[in-house]
Amino acid sequence: MPLAPSPTLLVTGGAGYIGSHTLIELIQAGYRPIVLDNFSNGSAHALKRVESLTGHALEVIEGDIRDAALLDTVFHQTKAHGAPIQGVVHFAGLKAVGESVAAPLDYYQTNVAGTLTLLQAMDQAQVHTIVFSSSATVYGIPREQPYTEMHPIAPINPYGQTKAMVEQVLRDWCATLPARRAICLRYFNPIGAHPSGMLGEAPQGIPNNLFPFITQVAVGKRSHLNIFGNDYPTVDGTGVRDYIHVLDLAVGHVKALEHARGTTGGFAAVNLGTGRGTSVLELLNTFSAISGRKIPYEFQPRRPGDIAECWADPSTAEALLGWKATRTLEDMCADGWRWQSRNPNGYED
Ligand code: NAD
Ligand code: WQD
Repeated sequence: MPLAPSPTLLVTGGAGYIGSHTLIELIQAGYRPIVLDNFSNGSAHALKRVESLTGHALEVIEGDIRDAALLDTVFHQTKAHGAPIQGVVHFAGLKAVGESVAAPLDYYQTNVAGTLTLLQAMDQAQVHTIVFSSSATVYGIPREQPYTEMHPIAPINPYGQTKAMVEQVLRDWCATLPARRAICLRYFNPIGAHPSGMLGEAPQGIPNNLFPFITQVAVGKRSHLNIFGNDYPTVDGTGVRDYIHVLDLAVGHVKALEHARGTTGGFAAVNLGTGRGTSVLELLNTFSAISGRKIPYEFQPRRPGDIAECWADPSTAEALLGWKATRTLEDMCADGWRWQSRNPNGYED
């Protein structure tokens, strides 16, 4: 009997941190991903490494999700070649909260208008399935912990607004045609790297996020960590977050696609987190113990816009998608350190 052809997927932003890790899981699950990325924050080296880790030659299109003509061509050509795109995994976007406050129009343009352009191209090509990278940021100031998907949506910065707006667009998009399926995955705090040490997070310039900052201090690229606030009402006064291994997140996308392909249609928003909160000091101490590196730090005032603590109620993901995070904080630190110590300058080595 002939093997069933691999379902073709368009993966926007596949050259980025979460996208590149997800490509590995998608390929291993039997999908044929076509990557569309404008390389504004992604790396062609990451894609090469995905190829060598999987033994699979990737199809890569350098282009922008806001380019309607390009999108139409991509959907049309895959159809003409007899392997039409069956779904879209949509990572492409801008993600720095502070930058979104300084340049909101760029964020609305890329994240919101870009997604509208993508959806219009999907409609033209009659592609009805999308998995979207949303964020726990959509919840804003927590009313209670953990965040469930029923928590009010009230983002407090333009970046979060773009995610909430796209979720609303997808909800309305699904409501107009029963066959449409959109799953918004609300990521908590993705950290860590592929256990091979070949793929990881490679932020440009000074990292905004805690974990890549810690790994850059450990490898000697930065002198010390600034800890923003030690007077929060938390276990030790520092901020608490739900850190999740990037590969657990990647598996979540495969599960979301399986779910979408097995349902008749509809919209869902699903938390992807571990359900466990970790403070800045707890993460720092775990990382130090795993890496054997001392991480000097200084306490600084609270960072504007930060909340004291948040973590996920991940039970919807388990009930709906059959997904649960399996990797520990120690795994996240070990894998993140392997990546950083072997690639001190990211993909530039
Ligand atoms: P990333 O910046 O590493 O990856 C995004 C990719 O999209 C990059 O490769 C970039 O070059 C590409 N891109 C950006 N604008 C584009 C455009 N207009 N057209 C085509 N490609 C474009 O970010 P990431 O951490 O991998 O995040 C992926 C997605 O997940 C983003 O949508 C982000 O908002 C969301 N998210 C990330 C986090 C996080 O902490 N990393 C948390 C929650 C949600
Ligand atoms: C974690 C904790 C900081 C840096 C952000 C976005 C969110 C999502 C994930 C995309 C906090 C503290 C940090 C440092 C520190 N991204 N910290 N020193 O703020 O929870 O979430 O990334 O969707 O939208 O807002 O993550 O890693 O920046 O901070 O003390 O140098 O570490 O105050 O308590 P955050 P983070």
